[in-house]
Amino acid sequence: MPKGDEMIVISNLHKWFGDFHVLKGINLTVRNGERLVICGPSGSGKSTLIRCINRLETHQKGTIVVDGVELTNDVKRIDRVRQEVGMLFQNFNLFPHMTVLDNLTLSPIWIKKMPLKEARDLAFKYLERVKIPDLAHKYPNQISGGQQQRVAIARCLCMNPKIMLFDEPTSALDPEMIKEVLDVMIDLAESGMTMVCVTHEMGFARTVADRVIFMDVGEIVEENDPESFFNHPQCDRTQLFLSQILSHGFTR
Ligand SMILES: Nc1ncnc2c1ncn2[C@@H]1O[C@H](COP(=O)(O)OP(=O)(O)OP(=O)(O)O)[C@@H](O)[C@H]1O
Ligand SMILES: [Mg+2]
Repeated sequence: MPKGDEMIVISNLHKWFGDFHVLKGINLTVRNGERLVICGPSGSGKSTLIRCINRLETHQKGTIVVDGVELTNDVKRIDRVRQEVGMLFQNFNLFPHMTVLDNLTLSPIWIKKMPLKEARDLAFKYLERVKIPDLAHKYPNQISGGQQQRVAIARCLCMNPKIMLFDEPTSALDPEMIKEVLDVMIDLAESGMTMVCVTHEMGFARTVADRVIFMDVGEIVEENDPESFFNHPQCDRTQLFLSQILSHGFTR
């Protein structure tokens, strides 16, 4: 693999919460433009792993290199990585006291020092992209969960990230709103964005992912292309997990 092609390189990553060993020697490389899906049982460390990638969590052993920058305690490096990495959470995390438009222009204006007019034009460009330009002047509590999540995606895109991390972005949504968010994610994938998605949306994983990894108790237990992963899981733990989620209706 050519060096310049590697966007995220995680080597022998260990993390503890106090005495609890949550990540146990993770090795993972994500290439430019790759779409990686992470799945696994609750508590297996999926959120912790992706939160380490933009330093929302610190690790104690091993290395994480994002687009050539190793994450250490150096705040300049952390800032550089965070400027390149957008993260989407389950609960949207929009500022409730600000309109959709102000949520979108805040970081471009304050972090990138972009002039107001340019920031607003950019915000509208991405609101068009997620198909809700008419909601620009609403407050988050005046729009649906699916719309809030699309605003959150547009807000990330305004910072022009190279990598997007998703932590179960549809799991807090009513079923009828899941598709509208997945459609935006599929559109992003088709545009060539490097994406790391924690999700149990198997339909999404099958259509969009280049690779699926399965985590259990802090380790990557199995990884494969989606077809092999879903049709021929190798490990007992993966088979058990897949049979459980399929029987609970996560079959979209
Ligand atoms: N801040 C914290 N302090 C202590 N323990 C934590 C903390 N955050 C997570 N944990 C523990 O670490 C383990 C992994 O948590 P994590 O949230 O990464 O799991 P997950 O795979 O994302 O689970 P889920 O599918 O439920 O979101 C869990 O046992 C959790 O209780
Ligand atoms: Mg989680």
